[in-house]
Amino acid sequence: MKKLLCVLLAGVLALSMAACGNSAQNTETAAEELPESGEAEDTAAEGGNEEAQEPEETEEIEAAADSADMEGTEETTETAENGQNILIAYFSWSGNTEELAGMIQNETGGDLFEIEPAEPYTDDYDALLDQARQEQRENARPELAGEVENWDSYDVIFLGYPDWWSDAPMVVLSFLESYDCTGKTIVPFNTSGGSGFGNSLASIEESAAGAEILEGFTVNGDQVSGAQADVSEWLSGLGFVQ
Ligand SMILES: Cc1cc2nc3c(=O)[nH]c(=O)nc-3n(C[C@H](O)[C@H](O)[C@H](O)COP(=O)(O)O)c2cc1C
Repeated sequence: MKKLLCVLLAGVLALSMAACGNSAQNTETAAEELPESGEAEDTAAEGGNEEAQEPEETEEIEAAADSADMEGTEETTETAENGQNILIAYFSWSGNTEELAGMIQNETGGDLFEIEPAEPYTDDYDALLDQARQEQRENARPELAGEVENWDSYDVIFLGYPDWWSDAPMVVLSFLESYDCTGKTIVPFNTSGGSGFGNSLASIEESAAGAEILEGFTVNGDQVSGAQADVSEWLSGLGFVQ
C-alpha cells in the first residue's frame, strides 16, 4: 500500500512539473510576439491594425478632393463656348473702360482683372494729363501693383484701356510685357474722347510679342452705357458668346 501511495505521489509530482514547464514556455512565446513600442508603430504603418489604415483612407480622401479641386478650377476658368479660358484685363482712370469691361464680362463670363500701377495716378485731371504725356515721352514702364494668377491657363485676353494722348497708357504696356504672350489671343477694347484707338494698336502688337490680335472695339467714354447692343454684336462676330 505504501508502495502504491509513493508511486501515485511521484506521478502527481511529475505531472505538476510538466505543467509548470509549459506555462513558462507560453509566457516566453507571448513575450516574443509582443512588438517593442517602436515595432508597434512600424506594424501600424504597414496596415497591421485599424489605426494603421487611417492614413491610407485620409490619403484617398485627399486624392479625391485634389481631383475635385482640379475639375472645379477647369470649370470656373473655361468660359467661352468653345472651352477657351478668358481673362478681361483693363485699366481705367475715371470708370468708362471699367464699365465696358463689365459688359464684356457679363457676355463672356471671363475673369476680370484690373491693371493698376504700384504708384497710383494722381486724382487731378490736369496733373494727370502732364504725367501721362511725360510717361509717353520717356516710353516709361510704370511698375504694376499686382499680377494675374494662372496667366498660363488663359487662352484669350480682352485688354481694355482709355486712349491717352492717342496711345495706350504706358502701364498697359508694362502689363503686357510682364507676361509671355506667345500663343495668346488678345482682343483690345478702348474708350476715348473721340480718337478711338489712336496709335495704340501698334503699341499693343509690339508689347504682346507672339500674340494674335483680334478686331477690337472702341466707343466714346460718354457713350459706354448705351453701347450694349454694339458690344454684343462685336462679341458675336468674334464667336465669344456664352
Ligand atoms: C491723360 C489723358 C489723356 C487723354 N488723351 C486723349 C486723347 O488723346 N484722345 C481722346 O480722344 N481722348 C483722350 N482722353 C480722354 C479719355 O480717353 C476718355 O475720357 C476715356 O473714356 C477715359 O476712360 P476711363 O474712364 O476708363 O479712364 C484722355 C484722357 C486722359 C486722362
